[in-house]
Amino acid sequence: ALQGHVSVILLGATGDLARKYLWQGLFQLYVDEAGKGHSLSFHGSALTATRQGQELLAQVLDGLACPTDVAPDRCAALKGQFQQLSQYRSLKTAEDYVALNGDIEAQLQHVGRREAGRIFYFSVPPFAYGDIARHINGSCRPRPGAWLRVVLEKPFGHDLLSAQELAAGLGSFFQEEEMYRVDHYLGKQAVAQILPFRDQNRKALDGLWNRRHVERVEIVLKETLDAEGRTSFYEEYGVIRDVLQNHLTEILTLVAMELPRNISSAEAVLGHKLQAFRALRGLQKGSAVLGQYEAYSQQVRGELQRPASFHSRTPTFAGVLVHVDNLRWEGVPFILMSGKALDERVGYVRVLFKNQACCVQDEPLWAVDQSRCLPRQIVFYIGHGLLGGPAVLVSRNLFRPLLPSRGWKEMEGRPGLRLFGRPLSDYYAYSPVREQDAYSVLISRIFHRRKESFITTENLLASWVFWTPLLDSLAQEIPRLYPGGAENGHLLDFEFSGGQLAFSQQQLAQLVPGPGP
Ligand code: BG6
Repeated sequence: ALQGHVSVILLGATGDLARKYLWQGLFQLYVDEAGKGHSLSFHGSALTATRQGQELLAQVLDGLACPTDVAPDRCAALKGQFQQLSQYRSLKTAEDYVALNGDIEAQLQHVGRREAGRIFYFSVPPFAYGDIARHINGSCRPRPGAWLRVVLEKPFGHDLLSAQELAAGLGSFFQEEEMYRVDHYLGKQAVAQILPFRDQNRKALDGLWNRRHVERVEIVLKETLDAEGRTSFYEEYGVIRDVLQNHLTEILTLVAMELPRNISSAEAVLGHKLQAFRALRGLQKGSAVLGQYEAYSQQVRGELQRPASFHSRTPTFAGVLVHVDNLRWEGVPFILMSGKALDERVGYVRVLFKNQACCVQDEPLWAVDQSRCLPRQIVFYIGHGLLGGPAVLVSRNLFRPLLPSRGWKEMEGRPGLRLFGRPLSDYYAYSPVREQDAYSVLISRIFHRRKESFITTENLLASWVFWTPLLDSLAQEIPRLYPGGAENGHLLDFEFSGGQLAFSQQQLAQLVPGPGP
């Protein structure tokens, strides 16, 4: 039997994110789903005038890349169909939304199927959410019996209060069930592998995934790019709001949460995640160390027309020590760290196990003399850095893991390559058969109603409950300065003193006190 028709409406269709990732993700969706059941059509909209928007869209669609596992002639055919099925309309006034609804209805008539549902992807700044939500709710809801999904992009507020207001605003137009808040790190293949990996290796991990065996967990996102060109956004947010509150905390909960019996139950996964959020111990000022790359204030002065005497207090680098207050994780440090303008671009989650044979414990982080011992570790390597792409690595002296057979393969050896002090041959190493961009992964999950990969209102607010007091207490703090670029090799050499995360001597040598505002 023929299934229904799904309309995907991309708002902000001519913007940066849409042009770089979202159209590609929608094309991937079409490639994966064409002919399988539902029929699809795509509607791009933005403030851009209709004619100009159509031209822009045509350019973007022309430039779409073919997935590597699709034969070129089949891909060319699919691309032609996708172009046929995609249209653009300028969207400003209430009448424009009525007209958009008319486009969708006309397409439904044309296909002659029942309506299955509509996906509205909001790739627009949050200040525009309210109006768009009202118009969609007013004139673009699907026919009775069909579903609605609205997809939202961060920032989801600036602190607890603003997040609550934003959530309440959206909640007056949409049901919780209808909202898909994106954290694109949840679509990164190595991150998306954390729960399946824990699930597949339940037996091996059963006795290991706890305070008796885990020394510490490092969740790291280093960037080489700085904030130039984005300071009007960045100056308001800073590194904690930009990536720690969302990306790194999401990853933390995936590592720390209790594993539900069934990891494909969205309700179970989201519920367990919420418990992990709620188990996070409140942060003290001393739990965080902040830095700012030296050129930052200068960039802000230039871009935001600030006086020569202006010095920003916005951190561009942060290391935060987090504890999970439950029996499983009592005393295990989770170190969250991220920064701009650092020496390399890399992201990873590293679970480092205790090792009786060597005293990892008292050494500064990242500086352990690895030649003296064989560290036991599991690494979810998010990408970039030495490996380039995503991978999952398990020390050979730990256990031989099972990975879900679909989608992942054993990685090829790379002679000479060392990761966290060990040659690659010391690990069981796996990488995805088909590397996929995070947005493609998430768009497919929205289509398949995989709600466990998105942020619920409850989880979002729980994260802000955790972060807001620290952000408030740091508001007047002046970050130390670091030079930026290749000289920041030691910026991650934190050490513990009295259970607190602190800069190590080497770090201090690189960080100078800021001049203050
Ligand atoms: C975004 C932040 O959410 O994530 C950016 O706003 C950051 O500042 C980016 O650079 C990192 O994501 P990715 O996918 O480029 O690693």
